[in-house]
Amino acid sequence: MTESNPLQETIAVKADHLYKAFGRRPHEIVKKLKAGKSRADISSLGVAAVIDASFEVKKGEIFVVMGLSGSGKSTLIRMLNGLWDTTSGTVTVGGTDITGVSAKELRDIRRKSISMVFQHFALLPHRTVIDNVAYGLEIQGMGRAERLAKAQTIIDLVGLAGWADNLPSELSGGMQQRVGLGRALAADTDVLLMDEAFSALDPLIRREMQEQLIELQAALGKTIIFITHDLNEAMFLGDRIAVMRDGRIVQIGTPEEILTDPANDYVAQFVQDVDRARVLTAVSVMEPVRSVITKTAGPRAALHTMRDLQTSVTFVLNRDRSFAGIVRDRDVLKLVKAGETDLRGIIRDDATSVSPETALVDLVEPSVESELPIAVVDEKNRLLGVIPRVTLLAAIGNVSTNTGALPIVMPPATISVSQITEILGETADDTQIDAAGVHA
Ligand SMILES: Nc1ncnc2c1ncn2[C@@H]1O[C@H](COP(=O)(O)OP(=O)(O)OP(=O)(O)O)[C@@H](O)[C@H]1O
Ligand SMILES: [Mg+2]
Repeated sequence: MTESNPLQETIAVKADHLYKAFGRRPHEIVKKLKAGKSRADISSLGVAAVIDASFEVKKGEIFVVMGLSGSGKSTLIRMLNGLWDTTSGTVTVGGTDITGVSAKELRDIRRKSISMVFQHFALLPHRTVIDNVAYGLEIQGMGRAERLAKAQTIIDLVGLAGWADNLPSELSGGMQQRVGLGRALAADTDVLLMDEAFSALDPLIRREMQEQLIELQAALGKTIIFITHDLNEAMFLGDRIAVMRDGRIVQIGTPEEILTDPANDYVAQFVQDVDRARVLTAVSVMEPVRSVITKTAGPRAALHTMRDLQTSVTFVLNRDRSFAGIVRDRDVLKLVKAGETDLRGIIRDDATSVSPETALVDLVEPSVESELPIAVVDEKNRLLGVIPRVTLLAAIGNVSTNTGALPIVMPPATISVSQITEILGETADDTQIDAAGVHA
């Protein structure tokens, strides 16, 4: 065991400058790579499957490794559980450096700390579901009654209740993969490695499995390293994603970071087909709120704001800055004309408000139903930003909007500037404007 420090305890798996080269003299290949040679430069000597990969996976995180075929994903994951040794660099699992330990120690680590789910299930065909799930426990020497009881719990957990005594051949692909997952879960390791575990499944079953994996992860708190070449899968599952290209990790980030701020053209191209509406959340696309006043500011202040920004609505905040609703220019105009000083009677609550984490796909319906921008509010109902329909559509379609242009931020004014000025002028008293005092 290496010395533990508090920071390290939150790290489940750490890869430190990992290299894996295949060829007659792998160390020579790595030496050349470290000296700055490219993968192509050393191709006559062999294959540089993984080049200088470093990352830390936090406890309880789903860390996805994504990349095209041949980019080095499987090689990388096999070094993480010591199935393959590294040509250079170290792997730390649960605080233990697993590079250079004996074969026996490695078996212990694999049994206790890190288990693997494969693409092609790798079930034992002549054993029942429950015996497949219990297999690892049997190897560990657990008694029959105990291991079957434990296996039954896990069978229920992965949604296979009632199938314990069937053979794998009697199950669908999705169910077989549940058995594979169950077997890995039975081992009770902190870390699960999954290499294209859902790739052989048809799309609907695959989505079901992804959802179940997230549920299981939340319930059991496992650390999961998940390999896929499917971008939507990566975006759906990953807390963070490492993108690999030609043996190198070219970017590590949250799905949103990778979508909104790709490190290079390769990543940008990779992500262009992603289902953005499911990945992006309200907070990443919202606009600052410009047209906003406090409830106590009064109708004249509201009208001023709307005139200056040329919008037909303005957002209204309570004293504590929580979101109160919206007012419309026509209603405000009536109040001003009537000499009223209190806005409260015309505040409408028909603007939709959503939390910052709401996926864009869930904003489409409210956005279509009302021309009002959607309000994004935090857990204390404070207004964080607004999402006009055009911003939503632009984000989903991945086209840029001129977000500085006010007319697209809010519905355009329905009353002319000169008309408002005239009315404000008639009852001139501009001191209220400063009282509004709210700027996003
Ligand atoms: N045992 C091996 N001997 C020689 N070369 C290998 C070996 N295993 C992998 N490679 C090479 O290393 C590179 C990375 O392979 P790897 O299997 O890690 O890719 P991958 O990203 O998992 O691809 P896929 O999506 O197709 O599974 C490839 O060029 C591959 O040909
Ligand atoms: Mg692979």
